[in-house]
Amino acid sequence: MPVKQGFQLPSGDIFPSVGFGTWTVWSAEKGVIHKAVKEAITVGYRHIDCAYVYQNQDEVGQAIKDKIEDGTVKREDLFIVTKVWNTAHRRGAVKEQLQKSLKQLELTYVDLYLVHYPISFKEGDDIFPKDDDGNLIFEHYDIVDTWKGMEDCVDSDLARNIGISNFNHLQIGRIIDAARIQPCVIQLEVNPTIANTKLVDFCKQKNIVVTAYAPLGNPNRSWKESKDPTILADPVLNEIALSKGKSVAQVVLRFLLQRDLVVIPKSANADRIKENFQLFNFELNEAEMKKIWSLDKNFRVYTKPIAVDHPEYPFHIEY
Ligand SMILES: NC(=O)c1ccc[n+]([C@@H]2O[C@H](COP(=O)([O-])OP(=O)(O)OC[C@H]3O[C@@H](n4cnc5c(N)ncnc54)[C@H](OP(=O)(O)O)[C@@H]3O)[C@@H](O)[C@H]2O)c1
Repeated sequence: MPVKQGFQLPSGDIFPSVGFGTWTVWSAEKGVIHKAVKEAITVGYRHIDCAYVYQNQDEVGQAIKDKIEDGTVKREDLFIVTKVWNTAHRRGAVKEQLQKSLKQLELTYVDLYLVHYPISFKEGDDIFPKDDDGNLIFEHYDIVDTWKGMEDCVDSDLARNIGISNFNHLQIGRIIDAARIQPCVIQLEVNPTIANTKLVDFCKQKNIVVTAYAPLGNPNRSWKESKDPTILADPVLNEIALSKGKSVAQVVLRFLLQRDLVVIPKSANADRIKENFQLFNFELNEAEMKKIWSLDKNFRVYTKPIAVDHPEYPFHIEY
């Protein structure tokens, strides 16, 4: 089954189907992401997934600048994504935070700007604002007003395309009904242990391309519990990988590509960065696809409820 190397968005831009994730723990050593992004661009990734909240866009920006200066790529060859964080959901703040991200990334525009979560926190510099008892301080902005801020970014030529992330189907419907510029991409957690089928199908029906985040189930996460499934150790996936002479990560990423999704694996290791990009020289047959589908447990890696009590918390309903 052939897979797309990229998806054409309504703007005419091509959204590359294999991107590079840049989220690392906030305590990550300085320079790790700079080196990883340079390596990723060297081996061929053109789509880089960033976010204001990752607090490392200066390193990503330096890596992009280095690779443009050494002649590997031109700005227009790259597809750079960033996201507005929960602390900037007021209409005017959406654009202000993009301007900050652009400054950190040393760019004049991003190819795609996403609303990271439908949840709003108190506006300000503190990315996780808390009260004296340690509780997150919420604010309520209508997600439709936040979306108007996203449209302002397109009007100002700061973002070429706009989309959402971690929205449920009701929230997506509210944006679609009110939008002047439709969301064209959504980021959702999708991997073999969370197929997210209903939401993915809903988005596809609405012409929204789905990017699978945590495509490998973020195996090294600090909050992993012993009872959690480990995708990379799964016997079914290991058997398929062995039979094809591929790594489990490659099989998982290829499975997601064959579901017509975009993938954004993160790695800070040169060999794994390269391996995760080599996905176009083999195929999974229907029987193999079916076996991987059967691993769905609706198990979410990013469960740590970021704000479970917020009225817009997206994961209380089925999809
Ligand atoms: N929109 C959202 O809310 C949201 C949420 C989460 C993530 N994201 C985005 O999605 C990206 C990917 O998700 P993620 O970083 O959480 O998880 P992931 O890509 O599923 O997993 C990353 C982890 O897998 C390891 N790894 C990578 N390639 C491997 C391979 N071939 N074999 C074995 N281990 C491998 C990496 O370790 P090494 O570095 O040591 O290789 C890293 O610890 C993020 O970086 C971020 O850009 C978006």
